[in-house]
Amino acid sequence: MKTRTSNADLHSQIDLKRLPQHIAVIMDGNGRWARKRHLPRIAGHRAGIGAVRQVVEACARLGVPCLTLYAFSVENWKRPHTEVKLLMGLLREYLKKEIKELNRNNIRFGAIGRIASLPEPVQHDLRETIEKTSSSTGLRLTLALNYGGRSELIDAVRDLASELNGKDAPDLEAITEQSFSRYLYTRDMPDPDLLIRTSGEMRLSNFLLWQVAYSEIWVTDILWPDFTERELFQAVIDFQRRERRYGGLG
Ligand code: FPP
Repeated sequence: MKTRTSNADLHSQIDLKRLPQHIAVIMDGNGRWARKRHLPRIAGHRAGIGAVRQVVEACARLGVPCLTLYAFSVENWKRPHTEVKLLMGLLREYLKKEIKELNRNNIRFGAIGRIASLPEPVQHDLRETIEKTSSSTGLRLTLALNYGGRSELIDAVRDLASELNGKDAPDLEAITEQSFSRYLYTRDMPDPDLLIRTSGEMRLSNFLLWQVAYSEIWVTDILWPDFTERELFQAVIDFQRRERRYGGLG
């Protein structure tokens, strides 16, 4: 008889000394989850918050230093106005409800993306959550909001160009991969070691394009609202079995 490995067994297979230092997640499949249940799409997004909670807590308990979740892309504005409005509402609800829990788990909250173009009430709640969790020293939870990998690169180039503009003879040789990455939204984080995507799609969807250059990618058919700490453990175990060569011979 085939028995299912328990979550505790999976946990015990994880080498806590070789954890990914940064996990990035493309949370996909909320709409399909809802459609399968003949529910409105927003019910899928609401259920997705449950998965966000599980994964955040599991990463905090494991001791993963950084977790970045793709919550709203620059392309998501193309969705029906009502869905966008409801998503923004859900985000505000999450932030308000979660501050206590984030602090209890020593989690520092942050946001990346074109934040200044989000509705003012959302920006207010983001600022408040960032401030109220700023002294936490554990997991760094970052939500990518109004985020696009290409717009991040454009923003970085604009910042760099405006800096060089004031100089008579800018030293272009001084622009290196390392120096350029300091203009990215993720300037104070390591690049993701592990990129997780749910609902089976084999796409990057404009997420952290620069930063995932050498990330290990783990894709599951599970729809985001069904993602639990179990799948997170499986992804980490799989990651630890892989040999990373960064283009070299190992
Ligand atoms: C993709 O599912 C998911 C999103 C566009 C948004 C992710 C949002 C949440 C998980 C809920 C809110 C999050 C927070 C942090 C408060 P989809 O709608 O593209 O699914 P589909 O591809 O099946 O249609």
